[in-house]
Amino acid sequence: MDGIIDPSADVLWDSVAYIATKRGVEDRQPRTDEEWQRVRYNAITLIEAANLLSMPGRTVAAARASAPGSPIPAPGELSTGEIQQRIETTHDTFIQFARNLQAAAAQALAAIDERNPQGLMEAGGVVDRACEACHLTYWYPNQTRPGN
Ligand code: HEC
Repeated sequence: MDGIIDPSADVLWDSVAYIATKRGVEDRQPRTDEEWQRVRYNAITLIEAANLLSMPGRTVAAARASAPGSPIPAPGELSTGEIQQRIETTHDTFIQFARNLQAAAAQALAAIDERNPQGLMEAGGVVDRACEACHLTYWYPNQTRPGN
């Protein structure tokens, strides 16, 4: 998650944006071949990472990153053992979540191959929801947040 999935998703999410700055609105999108190539590689990485998630016998990383001094698991989060157990007992569901992420990343890849920034932005939203859906089931099902 921390090493492969998160950094690749960040590249996708950061690649398109409308950002209000002092000098006006920045319409950020990949423009050069090199910039498109970079998001393309990261979309492919996400697609492949979903295969890695689906591998039988996948074990959850034992040491999760956390803010210094904050407990692991944080309030609302399952422990590593609980996450592992939940993945094993509902493996088909877990794989379905991984497939949904893969489909979302494939949608991003299609938009990239069309050089379609709007499509890439939309696919970014689909990717985000695919991350969140799995996390809500396996990582922090008991989280209470404003608006939840
Ligand atoms: C198929 C399920 C699944 C999908 C899809 C998924 N995750 Fe996760 N993710 C988990 C689980 C389970 C954990 C908690 C256990 C762990 O840290 O490995 C986690 C933890 C994380 C962490 C914390 C890692 C750490 O070491 O603190 C980050 C960051 C993260 N995910 C980012 C993402 C992003 C970004 C996406 C989408 C692009 C995503 N995840 C998609 C299951 C998923």
